[in-house]
Amino acid sequence: MKIALLTGGGDAPGLNAVIYAITRISLRKFPMCELIGYKFGYRGMYKNNFLRLTLENTSGILNKGGTILSSSNKDNLFDYLVEDESGNKIRCDVSDIAIENLKRENVDVLIVMGGDGTLTSARDFSRKGVNVIGVPKTIDNDLDSTDTTFGFDTAVNIVTENLERLHTTAESHHRIIIVEVMGRNAGWIALYAGIAGSADVILIPEIEYDINNIIEKISERDSQDKNFSIIIITEGAHEKNGKIVVSKIIDDSPDPIRLGGIGEKLANQLEKLTDHEVRSVSLGHIQRGGDTSPHDRILSARYANATVDLISQRKFGNMVCLKNNKMSYVSLEKAVENQKFIKMDDELLNIARAMGISLGDA
Ligand code: F6P
Repeated sequence: MKIALLTGGGDAPGLNAVIYAITRISLRKFPMCELIGYKFGYRGMYKNNFLRLTLENTSGILNKGGTILSSSNKDNLFDYLVEDESGNKIRCDVSDIAIENLKRENVDVLIVMGGDGTLTSARDFSRKGVNVIGVPKTIDNDLDSTDTTFGFDTAVNIVTENLERLHTTAESHHRIIIVEVMGRNAGWIALYAGIAGSADVILIPEIEYDINNIIEKISERDSQDKNFSIIIITEGAHEKNGKIVVSKIIDDSPDPIRLGGIGEKLANQLEKLTDHEVRSVSLGHIQRGGDTSPHDRILSARYANATVDLISQRKFGNMVCLKNNKMSYVSLEKAVENQKFIKMDDELLNIARAMGISLGDA
């Protein structure tokens, strides 16, 4: 048996923990098996660039964020940017070349760790007859078919710690500090870290905000002699009738829009409309870096074990998932159908409101 692994899309803490656990579990379960890891996601499959995974070269990576296999969020092999004979860049489907490489290397199973984009390609390779198993990862927690993904807890821990650090400096200067966090169009990181790190205002893409409500919250705090405020905002949040702020467009990415800048925009507005100095901080890729939280290491081990179980049962074309805290699986077809956004009756939204945190809509 030969098992190939790849990590695609933005990295998320826990990828190395999955690689670590899959290597160990499968080498014990199938002593004759061989493992390889494609470098830079699907690009490695296309270019046949891989490394052998052994107990030795996967040792010591359990706690480390990132991925020893490297990752890319540009390489959709079904719509891949190549150069034609005249040197012009054109898009074409190179998936069959990658499948030929899998056959040449006698790969029996392909394990794909990724978010929605990477898993959509996994589904497409499965449709073409490749034995694929998907493993969901994203710090954004926006995959609908699983309760949670590794990377999310680590990101929430990092943001919470930073909110606490910002409290002391905001308080010293009587400032408003705005903290912009990742999550694209889903506000999970802001909501969880905002509650854990006692933000005064939590702004998420799922709820359009009215700046007057934010000012009201700041005035309420001023009147209670709380002369500083901490606002957490998801990169994809926006004002009522306002626009999402885009930081850059990455032409050769399947999902080309990168969000960012809403925190700075809100800071400029609030500085004009309140008596406070305002600063904004964008935590950016810090949220994905460093060590993986113990919670995410355990979750990764659970996903890894469930993946090897699916291989034993030859249940390909599926993604492992967590449902009501039990490991399960769902077809790749279904896994990529929907994204998970915060619903208006979410328990944590209600708790935030009950605690007096402003969500910008009232
Ligand atoms: O999807 C994960 C994520 O970290 C988002 O939260 C963020 O918008 C995006 O990736 C950033 O992408 P990149 O690593 O390409 O800058």
